[in-house]
Amino acid sequence: MSRRARRRQGENTRSVHLPASPMPQQAPLGLPVWRSSAWGFADSARQAEVFGDGKSAHGRIDNPTTAAFAAAVASLEGAAAPEDVAGQAFASGMAAINAVLMTFLRAGAHIVAPTPLYGGTHSLITNVLSRFGVEAGFADYGDLARVRAAIRPNTKIIYAETLSSPTMAVADIRGLYRIARGAGALLVVDSTFATPVVCRPLEHGADLVVHSAARYLGGHDDCAGGVVVGRPDLIARLREVRIDTGGTLSPDDAFLLRRGLETLPLRVRRMCATAMVFAAAVAKHPAVRRVDYPGLPGHPGHQLARHLFDSGPEGTRYGACVTITPYGGHGAGVALTDALKLVSIATSAGGTRTKATRPAFAGDRPPGGGSGTGAAAVRFSIGLEDAEDLIMDVTQALDSLPESDG
Ligand SMILES: Cc1ncc(COP(=O)(O)O)c(C=O)c1O
Repeated sequence: MSRRARRRQGENTRSVHLPASPMPQQAPLGLPVWRSSAWGFADSARQAEVFGDGKSAHGRIDNPTTAAFAAAVASLEGAAAPEDVAGQAFASGMAAINAVLMTFLRAGAHIVAPTPLYGGTHSLITNVLSRFGVEAGFADYGDLARVRAAIRPNTKIIYAETLSSPTMAVADIRGLYRIARGAGALLVVDSTFATPVVCRPLEHGADLVVHSAARYLGGHDDCAGGVVVGRPDLIARLREVRIDTGGTLSPDDAFLLRRGLETLPLRVRRMCATAMVFAAAVAKHPAVRRVDYPGLPGHPGHQLARHLFDSGPEGTRYGACVTITPYGGHGAGVALTDALKLVSIATSAGGTRTKATRPAFAGDRPPGGGSGTGAAAVRFSIGLEDAEDLIMDVTQALDSLPESDG
C-alpha cells in the first residue's frame, strides 16, 4: 500500500464526514423527523432532474416531514375527494394566511372579510397589505346581503372563518360560495376553530382552507405551525410564494402536528361534547348575562351549524369554545377569570387543558372594531378534563362574583 493511500484524513474531516446509517429496510410506522436542511445528490444530472421537477428538498423549500403533515391535513379536509386536494405547511397560522393573501391578491385587488375576525388577520389586512395597495371591506356575515353589498368589481377573495371567536359566529359557507362564484372571487376559509372533525369547508364550496395548526391539529400546546389545503393548482401557486417569502414549517413542529392528527377526532369529539354540556349548565347560572355557543338553540348560528357541522352518537359537533359574559363590566370579567382554580388563564385554544381568556386581551378583537361581546366576556377553550369538574370550577367562580345590577 502506498504512503499516499495509507494517509488518514484529518480529525476535522473525519468528524464531518461520519459514516451515514443505511436507509432502513422496514417502513417506519412513526413519522421520521428529517431534520436535514441540506440534501445531497449522487451526481449533477440527478440534481438537475430533481430541481427540474420542482421537487427540491432543501431547508426552506421542501422537507419530507413537513410535506407529510401538509398531505395529512389535505386528506382529512379533502375526505370526499383526497386526490383533488393538496396542502402546504407554514411556520404559523399567520404565515399561512399571509401566503394565501400574497398569492391571490395584488395592488388594486379587494378582499371582503368578516367581523368578528381573528385580530392577527385583521391587522395583516389593514396594517400590512394596505401598504401594498390591497383594498378591504368588512361585513357582518350573519346577513349575506351585507356580504353582497361589500363586493366590488375588483374583489378577488371572500375570506371567512368557519367559527369566529369570541361570538363563535358560524359562517354560511354555502351561501358565501355562491357569492364568491358570482363575483369571480376565491372563497378562503380559516377553519382553525372547527377542524375537519366539525366541518370540512372544501365540501361546501371553499377553494382554500387555512388553519393555525398549533391549536386543535397539534392539540398539546407544544408547537407552532400553519397549513393551507385546497385545489392542487392553487396550492402549487401558494408553494411558490412560500418559497419566496420563507415562512416554512420546521420538521420538529411538523412531527408534533402530524402526530396530533392521529388523535384529532378523539380529542375534538370529546371536547365538543363537553363544551355542549358546559355551555348549557353555565347558561343557567344567575350571574351569567350571555353565553355564546352555537350548540345553544338561541345562538344565531345554531340552525346553520346543524346543517353544516358533522354529528355522531354524541350529537352535532358545535366546536369547543364557549364565551361567557357575566353581568357587570370589565371588572366582572377579570373577577371571573381570577376566581378560576382548575381552568388556566391563557390565550390560545385547542390544547388538552381548558383555558380562559378575555377577548378584550386576545387577538380576537380588531382594533377599532367590535368583537361582538362586551368587556366582561371570557372565552373558554374546553379541553379534555371531565365536564363535571369544569362546571364546578366555573360555577364556584361565578358564585364568587359580587351581585351586579346589570
Ligand atoms: C382563527 C385563527 N386564525 C389564525 C390564527 C393565527 O395563528 P398563529 O398564532 O399560528 O399564527 C389564530 C391564532 O390564534 C386564530 O385563532
